Amino acid sequence: MSQVLRRSEWEAMLIFSLVSLCVSLPLWSDRDSLIEEENARRTGANLLLGKYEERVNKKLMRLKEEEVAEAMHTGLFPPSMHFFKAKALIDQSAVFNFLKQMPKGGVLHLHDYAILSADWLVKHASYLPDCHICFFPSGDVRFKFSESHPPKEVLPGCSEWILLETYRKNLNNVTEFDNSLLRNLTLVSDAPEVTYPSQASIWSRFENVFITASGLICYAPVFKAYFYQGLLELYEDNIQYVEIRAMLPPLYELDGTQHDNDWSVAAYQDVAEQFVKDHLDFVGAKIIYSAHRNLNISQIKEAVYTAMSLRAKFPGTMAGFDLVGWEDGGKSLWELKEALTIPQSLGDNLPYFFHAGETDWEGTPADNDVLDALLLNTSRIGHGFALAKHPVARKLALKMDIPVEICPISNQVLQLVSDLRNHPAAVLMSEGHRIVVSPDDPSVFGAKGVSYDFYETFMGIGGMSADLRTLKQLALNSLTHSTMLPDERTQALEIWQKKWDQFIFWVSETVPEEL
Ligand SMILES: *[C@@H]1O[C@H](CO)[C@@H](O)[C@H](O)[C@H]1NC(C)=O
Ligand SMILES: *[C@@H]1O[C@H](CO)[C@@H](O)[C@H](O)[C@H]1NC(C)=O
Ligand SMILES: *[C@@H]1O[C@H](CO)[C@@H](O)[C@H](O)[C@H]1NC(C)=O
Ligand SMILES: *[C@@H]1O[C@H](CO)[C@@H](O)[C@H](O)[C@H]1NC(C)=O
Ligand SMILES: [Zn+2]
Repeated sequence: MSQVLRRSEWEAMLIFSLVSLCVSLPLWSDRDSLIEEENARRTGANLLLGKYEERVNKKLMRLKEEEVAEAMHTGLFPPSMHFFKAKALIDQSAVFNFLKQMPKGGVLHLHDYAILSADWLVKHASYLPDCHICFFPSGDVRFKFSESHPPKEVLPGCSEWILLETYRKNLNNVTEFDNSLLRNLTLVSDAPEVTYPSQASIWSRFENVFITASGLICYAPVFKAYFYQGLLELYEDNIQYVEIRAMLPPLYELDGTQHDNDWSVAAYQDVAEQFVKDHLDFVGAKIIYSAHRNLNISQIKEAVYTAMSLRAKFPGTMAGFDLVGWEDGGKSLWELKEALTIPQSLGDNLPYFFHAGETDWEGTPADNDVLDALLLNTSRIGHGFALAKHPVARKLALKMDIPVEICPISNQVLQLVSDLRNHPAAVLMSEGHRIVVSPDDPSVFGAKGVSYDFYETFMGIGGMSADLRTLKQLALNSLTHSTMLPDERTQALEIWQKKWDQFIFWVSETVPEEL
């Protein structure tokens, strides 16, 4: 009896102290406004949704919550898994299906020979007449189109050139062989952690994939078809515009003739114009000339001059200049400043779109690239994976209104981050830093278009807070931060807005309220 009394006494005291705690501490009374303050800073927070958008947002968020609840139950959450394993799950996701249909605006960070699914290269390009192959002892292959059978010059270390048509005729199982070619053109693997034990090893394979693909794509007729099909794949992923990092290797003809840079840019321009003629709701394509960061300083200088001259000749298509290749393993912007300050010293405004801070290492030259890119007046930052660690550079980027092109799947496959909930863009999104979502090299990662990266961003990086406003803001960013001329941009925004309204209306009408 006395015990019970004592216990209820104690309880009463506890309740009293808790109550007084609530009253006396400002913590709880401020909670709502503090949460509100955080919410107000996020990407998209300033957008006001219309009536239909609100309805669609509710449905979308219900789908998202269901998928997250399911993932918590099964322990399989795609953004926290390697993309090669997550892809099959993403393909079944209702949220992913929504994102695929959604008009996403522009793709601003995409590399020339990784636009279109590798399938097309194997099933179409490698089946064209006059296509030859050679085999390295390592298992690597190279391709070459040539009217002389076989092409005269053998590549050092590679076998004799063999006509693919003949080679395939002598095979028992062509499907198996074609699958092996497909593996040569992507990084996809069942056990990526075993196949690629280090960043150096995956970067070496990665660049090798580009060299392998270039034998097929650099054949001028294939190039034109590849680019057209690539635009089609983007268009089918509900993308309205694209900017491509292009290295412009020489395109060649059957008789061995090689074309120059001007010819390549004109080819990009012609194909894009034809594509727009055939698809009036697609806005167009621009090129960002890109040199490999491992070239020596005189070669980089030459590339900068080339970029200026191409920009003068093709002002509507050639948007600017960038450097590509492994940042940790190559030259930093600071090391190349002598070449990169040439345009400014000549009074020539060559816009820059630097890959910068695509690294996990803090305090290294690659890490410093984010600040140096800004000091070199970059128009956007490619990846900017390191930016979140640098408050001063971040503030500068905000002040200059320089967006970051985030490429989640690329960062994961190239081993900067394994669980995409931990991607540093989460910090940028939480404070509304301008970002655009890009796929970098979708075909090499076994992806298509930009929808998979939108999924990772929406579900993983953005967490439970990302909603339709976030997505709408990302799409808008991709057009406002493109290098389109003012009237082109106005037209692009009009086209996008119309598609967006149609999409929102369609979802609000057709997807049942209760799912
Ligand atoms: C590339 O293709 C060759 C030829 O079929 C094959 O031997 C090799 O295993 C392939 N490479 C990969 C990484 O699968
Ligand atoms: C050929 O290889 C594919 C892929 O490895 C396999 O699925 C198929 O059964 C094989 N066909 C024959 C006739 O052996
Ligand atoms: C740069 O590389 C080119 C081509 O390999 C070479 O001809 C040139 O001498 C090099 N220049 C310097 C400064 O190293
Ligand atoms: C920086 O780049 C922008 C866009 O290309 C250009 O308008 C501006 O003049 C440049 N500023 C400097 C200081 O070079
Ligand atoms: Zn890139």
